[in-house]
Amino acid sequence: MQNISVIGAGTMGNGIAHVFAMNGFDVKLIDINQAALENALKTIDKNLDRMVAKEKITPDQKVKTLEALSTNTDMISGVADADLVVEAATERVDLKFKIFSDLDQHCKPECILATNTSSISITKIAAQTSRPENVVGMHFMNPVPVMKLVELIRGYATSDEVTNRVFDLSKKLGKVPVEVNDYPGFVANRILMPMLNEAIITLQEGVAGVEEIDTVMKLGMGHPMGPLQLADFIGLDVCLSILQVMYQGFGNSKYYPCPLLVNMVASGNLGMKSGHGFYDYSQGPKNAVVADNFKK
Ligand SMILES: NC(=O)c1ccc[n+]([C@@H]2O[C@H](COP(=O)([O-])OP(=O)(O)OC[C@H]3O[C@@H](n4cnc5c(N)ncnc54)[C@H](O)[C@@H]3O)[C@@H](O)[C@H]2O)c1
Repeated sequence: MQNISVIGAGTMGNGIAHVFAMNGFDVKLIDINQAALENALKTIDKNLDRMVAKEKITPDQKVKTLEALSTNTDMISGVADADLVVEAATERVDLKFKIFSDLDQHCKPECILATNTSSISITKIAAQTSRPENVVGMHFMNPVPVMKLVELIRGYATSDEVTNRVFDLSKKLGKVPVEVNDYPGFVANRILMPMLNEAIITLQEGVAGVEEIDTVMKLGMGHPMGPLQLADFIGLDVCLSILQVMYQGFGNSKYYPCPLLVNMVASGNLGMKSGHGFYDYSQGPKNAVVADNFKK
């Protein structure tokens, strides 16, 4: 595998493109939104600078990484020579189904089609294609250049060969792949999201404030980030859609999204990416303060 196409240049797509390009692959980053592509390149440049400053890579490696990257707003031409496509577009079922049906028509027959979905069924995505054996979940964690885990999700029809190839490829990226089966939320979000939802319910019920809840979990449980800050960081819209998939997938009320989360998403308070969530990020992520709505 040499030619990698990454679809979606948002929070995850830029990190995935960064990691592949830094490890010697030729990467095409594709997004329908030109501004998202420009922002992604700026973010990659900034993150590479940080790695150079920390002496994790040399200045020459930074240049080579940027040279290995190109961008495209047209998916069809952007995937024509791909050996692997990693889809990291917005977490919406209809959108992912359409992208995979299009990919099936325009990618080489042997091309592996991977999705970075947080929760949508790999088996259902694969069923939109004529090559379900070549479809796999490659769930990177945020921020991709830093986090070691790749949750490698086998759909019902994913072949052993494709699973093994993506396993080996993840290791080449310096990641630790962990193979899991295709059930709603897989492993990471099945365990994480109920905790984040419970933190929001705890806030909604007035048991404690934003900082208090986050401090309890940081100092009491040794978590590097409190659950409300983490929800902001992931994106509240992403958290909501994962909970909805698990709620529908299991029909179990323990996954019911908290009404406060639903309201925050409906009002456009999506966390760090929109500037407001449980915290206010208008002075930058490092200077985040509790958002006005949650001040006592
Ligand atoms: N945010 C996280 O922490 C996180 C972690 C793991 C996995 N994920 C998953 O990664 C995927 C992307 O999430 P994100 O947080 O990067 O989202 P995001 O909203 O930051 O970015 C999504 C990007 O997809 C683009 N897009 C939408 N439709 C497209 C299309 N048809 N073709 C090409 N590009 C298109 C949008 O313009 C946008 O730039 C989702 O499936 C999400 O569940 C997210």
